[in-house]
Amino acid sequence: MLEALERDGNPIPFGCRKGQCGSCKAMLLDGEVEIDAGVSAFALSNAEREEGWILLCSSIPLTDSVTVRVELGESNMEALEAWKRTSEKGENQCLTR
Ligand code: FES
Repeated sequence: MLEALERDGNPIPFGCRKGQCGSCKAMLLDGEVEIDAGVSAFALSNAEREEGWILLCSSIPLTDSVTVRVELGESNMEALEAWKRTSEKGENQCLTR
């Protein structure tokens, strides 16, 4: 899911891209995903899974449509603002509004 969101120009935070750091954590709002079995408990605890959190780098959609909420930190907000500026020029398409 992380790669698909990036391909469409969404400024998603990430680190390891292997389910080990938790940087790409997102809340699953709608749809179903399969989370890779190799994800570390440090990156995504069982309690977080039960609350609906997923790791975008290690999740595969199981439904035609999946909606997630990504929480952006301050550095990610700068990336988002840069993305918005290019988006206003019609260069990006956001999938997560
Ligand atoms: S990028 Fe590290 S857990 Fe997804």
